[in-house]
Amino acid sequence: MASELKAAVIGAGIMGAGHAREFNENAKTALVGVADLDEEKASEVAKKEGTTAYFSADDLLQKAKPDVLYIATPDPYHLQPILAALDAGVKHILLQKPFATSVEHAEQMAAAIDNAGASVYVTYGTRSRSESAAGKFITESGLIGDPLFASMRNVDNISVPREMWADRPDNWAAASSSVPFLYSHRIDRLRWYYGPAEVATVTAVSRSEVLGYSTDFFESILTWTNGLVTRVHTGWVDFGSLLVYCENIFHGTRGMITHNETPAFGRPTAGWQVMFDEGTDLAQVKAAQDELLERGIGTRLFWEKPNTKGIPKTVAGLEVVPKQKEVSLTDYIIDAFVEGTPCPASWKRFQGESSLPTHRDGLEQTRVCCAVEESARKGGETIRLR
Ligand SMILES: NC(=O)c1ccc[n+]([C@@H]2O[C@H](COP(=O)([O-])OP(=O)(O)OC[C@H]3O[C@@H](n4cnc5c(N)ncnc54)[C@H](O)[C@@H]3O)[C@@H](O)[C@H]2O)c1
Repeated sequence: MASELKAAVIGAGIMGAGHAREFNENAKTALVGVADLDEEKASEVAKKEGTTAYFSADDLLQKAKPDVLYIATPDPYHLQPILAALDAGVKHILLQKPFATSVEHAEQMAAAIDNAGASVYVTYGTRSRSESAAGKFITESGLIGDPLFASMRNVDNISVPREMWADRPDNWAAASSSVPFLYSHRIDRLRWYYGPAEVATVTAVSRSEVLGYSTDFFESILTWTNGLVTRVHTGWVDFGSLLVYCENIFHGTRGMITHNETPAFGRPTAGWQVMFDEGTDLAQVKAAQDELLERGIGTRLFWEKPNTKGIPKTVAGLEVVPKQKEVSLTDYIIDAFVEGTPCPASWKRFQGESSLPTHRDGLEQTRVCCAVEESARKGGETIRLR
């Protein structure tokens, strides 16, 4: 169909294979090719998705001439493909997180994107989950008061750095760590919830006893321009039974959100819950529940006594009802390309007036992630960003 956007993927690995399928499944895009330096991988994905395999980014860009490009190369290798795509005149680009693994690369990329006038979105995929969107709405609603403190723990099973990429010729895990890989998601969530506040200082420590070629974990405290304090822990040496584990708490002065993104320790499902201070106006809580429902996010309203003897108060809360099917961030971004706006109608219905994550978010995410690594390298020295 003439109205379909010609879409292609560079990097046909774990993520790229899925993105090729997403382009095939979206009625607004037609998959015109996948490229990978690994010929076997490119051929395998191309065959599965019924498209053409290319064995270099340049070859794909010259021959397939895509309107939309998804770059899903490993963490340290986002610079070259994006510069090549911009040089080839591609104006619509989705880039897997992290934006970059160095501030130098990130600034070079952001300048090239601005010069080319291209629309580039970084796919921090958790933004399109109902629970994440509910968290943004409640944080911004003022119902839990002013931002006070947030704590996030996001770890991968040790098999992720040890085995998932073990067959890659360049073993790219050695040139990355849990900071570009996991922290990038966390910092994006925090900036998204608490913006326009930005990170003011970063203090981090790490250890490297287990993996050897990469850092085992990072523990960090960030202070923000609005007084918020956040603690973020990311690691790559989890010995639990889950591939990824992630738990978050967002505290306000009048309530708090608990968001377990993965089930664990007997909890049958992941979950999202907000609990309000006892003085909270229930009519306002119900109004927030109605607004969330308008956005397609179902919640259950509850009253509970904290499970401790001698605490008489009853607190009110909302709990997100798990959704059967979520729309992927890719689909929202394709809508952004079609409509020429970072807040397309589909996203606006779900998230209100909020932009999809652009390269500007990517640049700031990289600055914070690099400061975390720098602080840890310097033995916990505080890095001031602003
Ligand atoms: N959004 C998420 O939740 C999420 C989850 C996992 C991974 N990721 C990100 O996605 C990216 C890819 O991860 P992956 O697990 O798919 O990695 P992968 O190693 O499975 O795939 C990357 C592929 O890119 C190819 N490649 C490297 N340089 C290339 C180049 N210049 N031109 C063409 N192909 C090239 C490699 O040969 C490899 O096949 C990473 O940045 C990673 O952090 C995101």
